[in-house]
Amino acid sequence: MTSTVSTRLAPRRAGASHQPADLRADLLRELGDDALAEDVLARWDRWGDDLLDAAAEVYADPTLTPRLVHQIAMAHRARSESLRERDRARLLRPDWFQSAEQVGYAAYTERFAGSLPRAIEHIAYLQDLGVTYLHLMPLLQTRPGPDDGGYAVSDYDEVRSDLGTMDDLEELSSRLHCAGISLTLDLVLNHVAREHRWAQAARSGDVHYRDYFWTFSDREMPDAFERTLTEVFPQTSPGNFTWDPQLHRWVWTTFNSYQWDLNWSNPDVLCEFLQIILNLANRGVDCLRLDAIAFLWKRMGTNCQNQPEVHAITQLLRAAVRIAAPALVFKAEAIVPPSEVVSYFGRGKYAGRLSDLAYHNSFMVQIWSALATRDARLMAVAMSHMSQVPTTTAWATYLRCHDDIGWAIEDRDCETLGWNGWAHRNFLCDFYTNQVESSFADGTVFEENPITHDRRINGTAASLCGVGRDDQPLAVDRLLCAYTMVMGLGGVPLIFMGDEIALCNDRDYANDPNHADDNRWIHRPLMPWEVANEHGDFSGHRVYDRLRHLIEVRKSQESLHASVGTEVHSTSVDAVVCFVRHHPAGDMTQVYNVADHAVSVPAWEIDQYAPGAVLDALSGQTLVAQDGMYELAPYAALWLVRESA
Ligand code: GLC
Repeated sequence: MTSTVSTRLAPRRAGASHQPADLRADLLRELGDDALAEDVLARWDRWGDDLLDAAAEVYADPTLTPRLVHQIAMAHRARSESLRERDRARLLRPDWFQSAEQVGYAAYTERFAGSLPRAIEHIAYLQDLGVTYLHLMPLLQTRPGPDDGGYAVSDYDEVRSDLGTMDDLEELSSRLHCAGISLTLDLVLNHVAREHRWAQAARSGDVHYRDYFWTFSDREMPDAFERTLTEVFPQTSPGNFTWDPQLHRWVWTTFNSYQWDLNWSNPDVLCEFLQIILNLANRGVDCLRLDAIAFLWKRMGTNCQNQPEVHAITQLLRAAVRIAAPALVFKAEAIVPPSEVVSYFGRGKYAGRLSDLAYHNSFMVQIWSALATRDARLMAVAMSHMSQVPTTTAWATYLRCHDDIGWAIEDRDCETLGWNGWAHRNFLCDFYTNQVESSFADGTVFEENPITHDRRINGTAASLCGVGRDDQPLAVDRLLCAYTMVMGLGGVPLIFMGDEIALCNDRDYANDPNHADDNRWIHRPLMPWEVANEHGDFSGHRVYDRLRHLIEVRKSQESLHASVGTEVHSTSVDAVVCFVRHHPAGDMTQVYNVADHAVSVPAWEIDQYAPGAVLDALSGQTLVAQDGMYELAPYAALWLVRESA
């Protein structure tokens, strides 16, 4: 670390800055004869304060705001007519991503199609399924060799050469737009590959670039930080600092030793990333997934996650984007405790000013917990403890993604039921790696922490549900029950590639030297198009058709708009949970049985939420009570609405 360590670790408070009126005048001048200069100025008037307040909160550099204004003006001037049209449409319909019509799909380009041009050939498949949002996993140029599934970017201006070019990306985004599908890409902003030119310059002695990273001449500071840091990859990449022999210093590397954490207290890093964001926006990207955003700010004595400056930086970047390219939204990837995650939408002064979307990790974990225990009470407790999110935002709900599942279950939630949190998390790991008799799952352990014994797990949704096992005839019903919850909560439901055809674990990853050390590749299989094109699958149960039907019904239910939250209530039957949604377009009571056996629930327990709502929108059938009880089949999933709805 340089001698400025103590000041660098403290937030830089604002000094005298440029006056807002001067900056507005700068913006007008820089926009020159741009036909939409008036629109951009109106957006400055709307979001400029968000930008200036956040900049003042984090950075003292008086040259920063004029630089940002310049970047905004230049990016807008370079924006194509069709993207400007998209900006206008989205400003008129700012809730576009909250609508019940949104359905997401996430895939690795190479596993899904081979390359960007070939992905165009599969747009019709996505349309048929009902997809309106495609997240292509990291596709910018990465380092050679292991690259953490694309999260070790070596060049943000180039697409990975095996996948295509920036022009291919632009072509794909415009084809997707024509098909009614928006494009999400990853923005890896906590770190770069050590092969990135900034890191290379730092290694060859350039002090300007060395200040882009956290580097230390000896172990004093790293050791002091380590006291409160956690480890992300305790087995394959223990510790948070790596000795770099060329730099002759310790480098902060939260993830793998080849991923160098960036120094976001340096305003130059902020400007570099704003430029990257605006460039991607001008290629037609609609949503950026802010990768590992929780880790951006380092503060001694903390776990260096969820620091307030992370939120100020997000507010600043989002405000800049609202002004220059408002068709773009942000999605936070903050896999942090449930009590922290809502702050990524903004709380207090940041409310509604940060990410538009955020992954609902806690809900995902609770679905798997409920299926394993055949008991949904913990889900109801955990969900009731989560704070409201701003009405202008939406959760990204999911059952599986490309990452492992970590058991983010709070002790206090378990204690409400008289359960021990540690024992329950341990049970879930044993369960999903098929080490207990009641297990239906086929998962593998990921990164056991030798000190805390914390274990995470891997496996495709289908394999974790028991698809492929002869003794699990209900595996597909289980999978669909889980996906119905994902589709029913409100927000953007994300399907992970292959789940729609119940793809099971792919053990071939072990034969690829770049993947062999990372068993997350077990759940990143290749798309078998010969099967997918027939809408068939390996379970023999036409999961595709059932999922497509579910999506169709979802789109018809305006009340699933993400602006209203979902209440999650348990019932007197441990396995039965109700999701209750009160929306002016019509109330909906969703009922799920997470057990592999039929159950009877007192009818009033369900009727109380929306009397008269007995038509199941999913099956088109009316739910009829017998002797005051509703009979629910194993893994029943009902979306109850009023007949007229
Ligand atoms: C995110 C990604 C994960 C990656 C990590 C480091 O959590 O989802 O796959 O390993 O960031 O970039």
